[in-house]
Amino acid sequence: MNRDYQTGVIAESSRDALFLSFNAIQSPGNEQKIRQVLAQLPQMLDEVRAEMPNKDLHLVAGIGSAYWDQVSPHARPELLRPFPALENGQRVAPSTPVDMLFIVRAAAYDACLELASRIGDKLAGLAKLEREIHGFRYKDTRDMTGFVDGTENPEGDDRLEVALVGDEDPEFAGGSYLHVQVYEHNLDAWNQIPVKEQEDAYGRTKEDNVEYPCDKKSPHAHTKRTSLKDADGNSMEILRHSMPYGDSTCKGLVFVSTCRTPEHYELMLNSMVNGDEEGRADRILEFTRAVFGAAFFVPSNDWLRSLK
Ligand code: HEM
Repeated sequence: MNRDYQTGVIAESSRDALFLSFNAIQSPGNEQKIRQVLAQLPQMLDEVRAEMPNKDLHLVAGIGSAYWDQVSPHARPELLRPFPALENGQRVAPSTPVDMLFIVRAAAYDACLELASRIGDKLAGLAKLEREIHGFRYKDTRDMTGFVDGTENPEGDDRLEVALVGDEDPEFAGGSYLHVQVYEHNLDAWNQIPVKEQEDAYGRTKEDNVEYPCDKKSPHAHTKRTSLKDADGNSMEILRHSMPYGDSTCKGLVFVSTCRTPEHYELMLNSMVNGDEEGRADRILEFTRAVFGAAFFVPSNDWLRSLK
């Protein structure tokens, strides 16, 4: 196991986060300069941590599937592939690739802003900021639909086992496949249905967050659609780092999955959008819509430092 992983891939949920996506400006010499910025990221994180201690600051620096070969023409993570765009009637999962994603998260917004600003300054003239979203903890880690999010995430050492590439791809050990989607909720419609119907949509109770017994879950329940097993009966797991975002008019979720393989997320998303063998799809997709989706690889810190 490569222990020099980016800590943001494993860290517990944060109070605040900035999600920044950039596209490289294509001009001669830029690629090498961007490589140098990427190589400096672990040190930049250390510097801000030293200046602003006790803020539990973490960074996740991901390189987009389509952009990867420009950063590293000779070596590519074995399973890195584009975001799996899907569409089935009203249920959509668009692919909107970007070159780089930085997730800066901490126990306080000022630390997020400090590191994000330094990354932005370094990339000035080299890459264009496409989108910046401020994610925040809502109540006791609830999604804006009012349900606790993250309960069934792996815990302790299981987080490393689920999220980090191991010996199966030695050059990229300690890295992680990351998928991000931005969902916009239709809370007017959601809040019009009774709480019991909301609970059925997730397969969990709302206030006290208790899982329904398996035989009481609808095939359309979100937790039913995303609890998948492989051919040997083992659970297919991902480590989620989703966070609510929004203002008084538009609210939603930045969904983030990290995993040692992209396959688990791809199968879950397919199960939500296209449903089971009888086409029974995820009920929550009637109340939320993905407007952004992209796939990245998050290399280990020592891999980043080795970039020239
Ligand atoms: C579980 C919310 C999208 C995968 C949950 C839970 C909530 C939730 C409230 C139950 C508590 C928990 O265990 O965390 C949402 C919302 C989404 C969304 C609001 C989008 C707007 C997704 C997507 C995937 C996913 C796109 C994967 C493709 C999972 C998994 C679980 C889960 C694996 C745990 C299932 C279990 O073992 O019980 N989600 N989710 N979610 N979600 Fe999502």
